[in-house]
Amino acid sequence: MEVINTIDQIKIIRQNYGNKTIGFVPTMGALHEGHLSLIQQARQENDIVIVSIFVNPTQFLEGEDLEKYPKKEQADIKICQLAGVDYLFMPTKDTIYTDDEIKVLAPNIRGYILEGYNRPSHFDGVLTIVLKLFGLIQPTNAYFGKKDAQQLSLIQQMVDNLFLPINIKAINTKRDSKGLALSSRNAYLTPKDKEKALLISKSLNLALKMVAQNELDVELIKQKMYTILDPIEVEYIAIVNYEFKYIEKVEIKNSIVLVAAKVGSTRLIDNMWM
Ligand code: PAF
Repeated sequence: MEVINTIDQIKIIRQNYGNKTIGFVPTMGALHEGHLSLIQQARQENDIVIVSIFVNPTQFLEGEDLEKYPKKEQADIKICQLAGVDYLFMPTKDTIYTDDEIKVLAPNIRGYILEGYNRPSHFDGVLTIVLKLFGLIQPTNAYFGKKDAQQLSLIQQMVDNLFLPINIKAINTKRDSKGLALSSRNAYLTPKDKEKALLISKSLNLALKMVAQNELDVELIKQKMYTILDPIEVEYIAIVNYEFKYIEKVEIKNSIVLVAAKVGSTRLIDNMWM
């Protein structure tokens, strides 16, 4: 595996690989098994696998955890090596951004509800960096986790709207043995917080169970979920269809139930697709 830092290196690699398939996994580092499953899928489906690690400042809002975002550079390099990654791209901020730049703006509705409502301009930053990385790497396939469902749906929309010749691959959320969705931000949780955080997947599982029993009324499902989540600070519970439109009745195989909640000082998101 080669670790690369410059735009010129990426350009040379891209030229050399001509028509080979390129699988790309963009990350912000502090890799865990969730990232590993994206990399493994990319490894299975492509000739060349490129992973990027870049803690993208433009997707963090004032006062968020940009400065303390977990960094595990040496462990990340090892994980990528062992997973058979061909190139690990680790640029600095100045390699990626100049002072005055064109930005991608998230669409008014899908980009500004839920995560976008609580974190306005977050998705502008996500889409901008993902488009930059797509432009540089020109992957055949790009891999994203379903845990960031809204991000995934906006990236798919960007690819569709801008006619980008890239396949977006959605990969299932990885959970620990108790059901907590893996996230780099779990590193902030104390053992007590971790116990409380389990209420999130418990509430999502309840939604799935209700739907399996043919209870499709969104308000009713949300009410029951709020009861489970009472001990923690819920930011939102929502049920949307795959296009991120609010719905009143769950549509089987076209609905996502989502939760954002704060446990201690850590904000967590999770969802299940139904
Ligand atoms: O999901 C993430 O880790 C980030 O939002 C991404 C897609 C790497 C863009 O910075």
